[in-house]
Amino acid sequence: MLIRNETEGDIPAIGALVTEALGLLAEATGTEARIVEALRAERALVLSLVAEERGEILGYLAASMARIGAQEGWGLIGPLVVRPSRHGQGIGSALMAEALARLRLNCRGAALVGDPGYYGRFGFRCFAGLGVAGCPPEVVQALPFDASTPCGELIHHPAFGLSQTG
Ligand SMILES: CC(C)(COP(=O)(O)OP(=O)(O)OC[C@H]1O[C@@H](n2cnc3c(N)ncnc32)[C@H](O)[C@@H]1OP(=O)(O)O)[C@@H](O)C(=O)NCCC(=O)NCCS
Repeated sequence: MLIRNETEGDIPAIGALVTEALGLLAEATGTEARIVEALRAERALVLSLVAEERGEILGYLAASMARIGAQEGWGLIGPLVVRPSRHGQGIGSALMAEALARLRLNCRGAALVGDPGYYGRFGFRCFAGLGVAGCPPEVVQALPFDASTPCGELIHHPAFGLSQTG
């Protein structure tokens, strides 16, 4: 399996995979593939990684820049998806390892909204005062790469459509 940057030819498969994998989640809105398209159109994808095996896209991870409170420089990971028939084979972990290695080069830390049962294994955790309006606080997590303490609202790129004012 190869983890690499997306190419133009991957774009339809990425959209289909995001829709398929997130369709399993009760909290999915069905708009996630469009959010990825919007981030791409705005050149806001700082990472757009695919996991490929024999020409097939099995996993995908996007990252965009975010702010926490007044603090710029956070890499926001999401969505992260793996083809359902290939769950539990380390594909999500491989995408995450590559993403964190790359974000470490020019971000103060990574942040995401997701299941703490999964993301805790990569070092993500909750912080007092870190949140996203309307989300349970336990799903909003960060992984600082330096001494930064994330405190405040995790402000996503406008392409996420969260109407955050910050
Ligand atoms: C979450 C997801 C990306 C994980 O990808 P994956 O390739 O299956 O993950 P890995 O193989 O690297 O890791 C599998 C491990 O994570 C665990 N895991 C997967 N999802 C989990 C969850 N929501 N909570 C707790 N543990 C979880 C598995 O039980 C397995 O544990 P083990 O290593 O102890 O056996 C994938 O299941 C997926 O696409 N799910 C649907 C979309 C989704 O939930 N995306 C995340 C949005 S929050």
